[in-house]
Amino acid sequence: MNGDKEPTMTTSKPMENRDSGTREGEKTVELPPNPDAGVYFIGRIHTPWTQRKDCPKNARGSDAVCTVELDPRWAEGLKEVESVSHLVLLYWMDQAPRNLVLQVPGHYGVQRGTFALRSPARPNPIAMSVVKLLGIDGNKLEVVGLDCLDGTPLLDIKPYFASVDSVPEAVVGWHQQRQ
Ligand SMILES: C[S@@+](CC[C@H](N)C(=O)[O-])C[C@H]1O[C@@H](n2cnc3c(N)ncnc32)[C@H](O)[C@@H]1O
Repeated sequence: MNGDKEPTMTTSKPMENRDSGTREGEKTVELPPNPDAGVYFIGRIHTPWTQRKDCPKNARGSDAVCTVELDPRWAEGLKEVESVSHLVLLYWMDQAPRNLVLQVPGHYGVQRGTFALRSPARPNPIAMSVVKLLGIDGNKLEVVGLDCLDGTPLLDIKPYFASVDSVPEAVVGWHQQRQ
């Protein structure tokens, strides 16, 4: 872990709107002085959405066809990907804050821990979606099942294995019980 000292906990000033800071009930922490590792953006995701308010809230929120443009240096890595029906995409929510530890998502209005949420705001703003692969043309993949802004950086592509990745009995208690 980077940074020997405990992170300093700070309580955010209440503000109405995420775009201008934190909401009432949210809490930030001081980030460590340096990151522990670097990542390579391996491409960009092209979607119809240029504003966060217009994005679907999750991967099943839209049937829009989106294009994943892979850096040509990694194109050979797509060998046999055309045989895969669904992919796990990992992407970097480059416009999200990274210091929130307690959040009050606008659409729920209830305070929850960052790690109980799929919010893009997290220390490492990595998002994931299982997408349906429609086709591949060179270094471009057409997919359905994304919820990110146009130009969002791509971190990784993996085959989705229903036999391993699907857990039909999985439960998110707070989501099941929400009013
Ligand atoms: C709730 S997150 C879910 C992301 C992903 N499916 C997951 O579960 O990890 C989706 C929301 O993130 C926001 N978002 C999309 N692209 C973003 C970006 N590049 N930076 C920051 N926020 C983004 C939009 O408000 C969108 O509705």
